[in-house]
Amino acid sequence: MTQLQRPKDALNDESRQLALLVNSVTDYAIYMLDKDGVIRTWNPGGQRIKGYSAAEVIGTNFSRFYLPEDAAAGVPQRNLRTAALEGRCIGEGWRVRQDGTRFLASVVIDPIWVDGELIGYAKVTRDITERQEAQERLQKVQHSLLQAQKMEAIGKLTLGLAHDFNNLLTIIVNCLDLISLRVKDSAASKLIETALRAAERGAFLSRQLLTFGRGQKLSPEPLDLSRTLRDSQELLQRSAGDQISVVFDLHDDLPLVLVDKAQLEAAVLNLVCNSRDAMPNGGTITVKTNVQVTQDPVSEAHQPLPHVCLTVEDDGEGIPAAHQARVFEPFFTTKPVGRGSGLGLSQVFGFTTQSGGFPMLSSISGEGTRIVLCFPAYEP
Ligand SMILES: Nc1ncnc2c1ncn2[C@@H]1O[C@H](COP(=O)(O)OP(=O)(O)OP(=O)(O)O)[C@@H](O)[C@H]1O
Ligand SMILES: [Mg+2]
Repeated sequence: MTQLQRPKDALNDESRQLALLVNSVTDYAIYMLDKDGVIRTWNPGGQRIKGYSAAEVIGTNFSRFYLPEDAAAGVPQRNLRTAALEGRCIGEGWRVRQDGTRFLASVVIDPIWVDGELIGYAKVTRDITERQEAQERLQKVQHSLLQAQKMEAIGKLTLGLAHDFNNLLTIIVNCLDLISLRVKDSAASKLIETALRAAERGAFLSRQLLTFGRGQKLSPEPLDLSRTLRDSQELLQRSAGDQISVVFDLHDDLPLVLVDKAQLEAAVLNLVCNSRDAMPNGGTITVKTNVQVTQDPVSEAHQPLPHVCLTVEDDGEGIPAAHQARVFEPFFTTKPVGRGSGLGLSQVFGFTTQSGGFPMLSSISGEGTRIVLCFPAYEP
């Protein structure tokens, strides 16, 4: 055996050093292409990431790793040309594994020149799907957190204002009541009646604001969502109008939830009225109760947990993506003045979060809207 043939001397031989290095790497696909993109070498990283063994790929064109539409559009050849012209081609893109699944690849292609002649390319590919997914998850949590902080800040601001208004309106209503007892004139009584109705409407709005700011004192009690909804079935159908059918899909034997009954009824009514307004030409509203495994959007740390859920779904006009982050804010409305005060979903939001739950919104413009209120099951 000569010196260089002994395994431990392999580290002193430059070409074997390189082969050892490339063949030890499993996190990166490192391989060589000829001028036309035909694969000439392969490493264990390539096999791990793309699924093919060396025998399966050597001698075939590297365009097989691209999505069919990219390959058809000539992306692989363009990348080689860029590498040759600019000295390097760096990029990220979706590629296909042997089993047909897709992965996001970070790719570097370097041209190999020998004596001024292009003889092929060195290609390094890394699977960055996981990194990309982790980044997307992080962005989602950051977004939810920001949204939660924004709602918290608006809530605090609203709360002070709503308290003052509530007190003022209480005084106005009481005084009007007292005046109406003394006034015998029928025209004046009518005016007082109108003023009372307006003040009561004002008090109602400020109560909605208080719920949003979590300033409303709730009286939670253990409730069966399905049973409570059965009691308001008639009211909900009447509020939806004749053109709309309200379908109830209420599951029996659900775990109880600890919520304020009046607030729950107000929340469902708000949701049903919104759905009604989104379907001026009629349609269907589905009111559903069930248990779903859902994840609190702000506490990514928590695993998805079973929640007792109340869903109101319609096939109305939907909410444009740009509005979706804002609909729970107080005073956000797209309805004409006098038609909407923008407090319905704020009440829904305040009530649900104050009850330990969270709302989930999904909507597609032109197709419909689904709002799910998720509550923790009540454990006595
Ligand atoms: N089911 C739905 N379909 C389409 N858009 C909706 C739906 N629910 C809510 N929205 C949109 O969200 C906005 C805010 O709703 P929210 O209930 O808070 O206020 P509002 O209905 O406008 O007024 P209010 O409920 O105080 O009378 C609505 O103006 C509407 O643009
Ligand atoms: Mg509303």
